[in-house]
Amino acid sequence: MQKNSIGIFDSGVGGTSIFKEIHALLPNESTIYLADSKYAPYGSKTKNEIIDLSIKNTEFLIDNNCKIIVIACNTATTNAIDILRNTYKIPFIGIEPAIKPAALQTQTKAIGILATKGTLSSALFHKTTDLYTNGIKVIEQVGEGIVQLIENGDLHTPKMEFLLKKYLQPMLAENIDYLVLGCTHYPYLMPILLNLLPKHVKIIDSGLAVAKQTKSVLEQYNLLNSIGKKPNNDFYINIKNTAVMQSLLGGNFNVKHLDF
Ligand code: DGL
Repeated sequence: MQKNSIGIFDSGVGGTSIFKEIHALLPNESTIYLADSKYAPYGSKTKNEIIDLSIKNTEFLIDNNCKIIVIACNTATTNAIDILRNTYKIPFIGIEPAIKPAALQTQTKAIGILATKGTLSSALFHKTTDLYTNGIKVIEQVGEGIVQLIENGDLHTPKMEFLLKKYLQPMLAENIDYLVLGCTHYPYLMPILLNLLPKHVKIIDSGLAVAKQTKSVLEQYNLLNSIGKKPNNDFYINIKNTAVMQSLLGGNFNVKHLDF
């Protein structure tokens, strides 16, 4: 079991930002990454559709003998993790917008959150927000269109800059000092955001926290790979174009097309 892979899935290529954090912290671990790009974006789908897609992805990873599943997607986590945990025995790690650290550290008492419609409308997101943001203004913004641009390889384009300026403007008008990235595609926006935001606005995401949590749960179940064998990092995507994912990952990994 210890030598089995960590399974990771996302609606598409964005969860590779989480893979990178996991791989940096746990270089000895084999991983299988599933990009469900054919059905992206999840953010505009209904809760039931998101649950069905999450079940499909989970079963693929279980069939491939994964020992733990990381849901590298805020939208899938906030809509489906409870059902997945109640249905399957395998441990799940989820990702949620980092509302708590932003709320604890804000000086201006205003924080911005950029996420998908599916995440912002979920009961889990509301529960976390209500718990930690008493007395703090939370400016929620749906990142309509951002995931599709990243999936299409149109990351550094005028269209992306236009959308981001539009989405940040109401947050800046409320004097936010923290911007929470509530979607695993968004860490790839970092260079553009740093250009658009005033210096005092800090950007946070949950990637490192997810990697640490994955390590801690593997330790708890005695599932860390202690065998000296070189790990495999496999990447599967269900659209023909593998180039976008390949370029986000960098040169060292090989992305395969697979129908699922
Ligand atoms: N990476 C997914 C997330 O973290 C994107 C969701 C989508 O496909 O809309 O929410």
